[in-house]
Amino acid sequence: MKSARKRTPTKAGEELEARALAARSNAYAPYSRFHVGAAVQMSGRVFTGVNVENASYPLSVCAERNAIAAAVMDGAVNLEAVAVATDASPPSAPCGGCRQVLREFAADPDKVRITAINPRGERRQWTLSQLLPDSFTGKELPKETR
Ligand code: THU
Repeated sequence: MKSARKRTPTKAGEELEARALAARSNAYAPYSRFHVGAAVQMSGRVFTGVNVENASYPLSVCAERNAIAAAVMDGAVNLEAVAVATDASPPSAPCGGCRQVLREFAADPDKVRITAINPRGERRQWTLSQLLPDSFTGKELPKETR
């Protein structure tokens, strides 16, 4: 398959991956035991998030969404790159809901690189457009509602 490209990470890419892997150790996942760390580069800065689960399962929040929330709280709203760290092999891609949330902050989804990694150094990589083609952006909404 052509969609998951393997390439040597850039320096910025390496930092993002390292931050996602480090964040993962703080994941709160006592129910699924699937520990996820995410790092997003937004407006030139890096923000991290982990999945935070709840005994009321549907209230659990994914790592990617928590990273986005951290960035937005700090005023960074332009998504440039994403790294997601899990223990999965092959490395796990972001869930569908998170893809849509990432899309909200991507000016050009062709330029947003998403890298999935695991602690063994395995890596998969896509653009956001590859993971969420023909996306809903809100431009479809009537003008008076946006
Ligand atoms: N999870 C994430 O944090 N990100 C994803 O992209 C996939 C799923 C979390 C949600 C839940 O806490 C656990 O992984 C199992 O689904």
